[in-house]
Amino acid sequence: MHNRVLVTGGAGYIGSHTTVELINAGYEVIVVDNLSNSDRGALEGVRQITGVEPKFIEADCCDRDAMRRVFEEYEFDSVIHFAAYKAVGESVAEPAKYYRNNILSFVTILELMCEFGRKNILFSSSATVYGDADVLPVTELTPRKPATSPYGNTKQMAEDILRDMVAANEHLSGIALRYFNPIGAHPSALIGELPRGVPNNLVPYITQTAAGIRECLSIFGDDYDTPDGSCLRDYIDVVDLAKAHVVAIQRLVDGRNKHRYEIFNVGTGRPVSVFELVRGFEEANSLKLNYKVAPRRAGDVMAVWADTRLANEELGWRAERELYDTLRAAWEWEKHLRQ
Ligand code: UFG
Repeated sequence: MHNRVLVTGGAGYIGSHTTVELINAGYEVIVVDNLSNSDRGALEGVRQITGVEPKFIEADCCDRDAMRRVFEEYEFDSVIHFAAYKAVGESVAEPAKYYRNNILSFVTILELMCEFGRKNILFSSSATVYGDADVLPVTELTPRKPATSPYGNTKQMAEDILRDMVAANEHLSGIALRYFNPIGAHPSALIGELPRGVPNNLVPYITQTAAGIRECLSIFGDDYDTPDGSCLRDYIDVVDLAKAHVVAIQRLVDGRNKHRYEIFNVGTGRPVSVFELVRGFEEANSLKLNYKVAPRRAGDVMAVWADTRLANEELGWRAERELYDTLRAAWEWEKHLRQ
């Protein structure tokens, strides 16, 4: 089944947006999710946007028997593996939880793919693998730095596991996409990010502050060696990011990937400071945000942004949405949640 894709973590933030874009591109999607950090409602949002309800199986990717049943029951050539924990701070406090979930789930999926002769695997990696890079922007050949959190380590380890599994199994092809900072929401405001508890990430904290749920945004550091003193990141719209998955899967399905294992940066190529992002949010949405400067956050790198030429040239993909539109969509989604 060339046009059928198993999407693990498909009820999550990036998974649900990718499910929409896959359906729009004509794929049939089977979602597997244990709903540990996601909501079934996201799939209802997918249905409202696309008119198609993806097949949903509530299961944990670490549960080998449950996953074997999925492989036995459904024919599909391709898997996109999103299912993972993603909170950097929590991973430092509970490393075993991260190694167990993020590594075991991936190895389970890869083993089953080999056992059942399934071909194409797309993995969610992260710019975190570059750490505090010596040269910016980072290309896919920029050396990875030792991970500074168990979360980051799971991404590095999973990339290596994928490389080794592809090398050892000639029918298997894989792509790792290194996401920069995914933000925003679907323009319909029917799906978006659902942070549990106090958000760690900048944009959900901004939208919750604007909504009055948080009193004040802390800007973590204004004394970095950057133009305005705050950190620089590459904020990629989640819909643009979702579309990168569609072209990457199509490349695998068509057998156009070059070495059976490839890595692509998925970012805009444009560094944006925390102050710029806050100002952009205020301007895009005609509101004022309550914020203050606070000390640097432990573990933050000063700057990281992508060289996107490889994805531009090889995938024929580039980020298209304007930052203002992305920040408007983020606010529309927050308002939708509060209705
Ligand atoms: N920031 C604030 N205030 C906040 C939250 C964040 O000033 O309340 C700043 C951070 O200091 C940083 C920037 O906003 O400079 C972005 O922070 P995020 O937490 O949104 O994102 P990070 O770049 O720290 O982390 C992201 C992903 C991680 C990934 C990491 C490295 O969330 O999964 O990029 O690639 F590991």
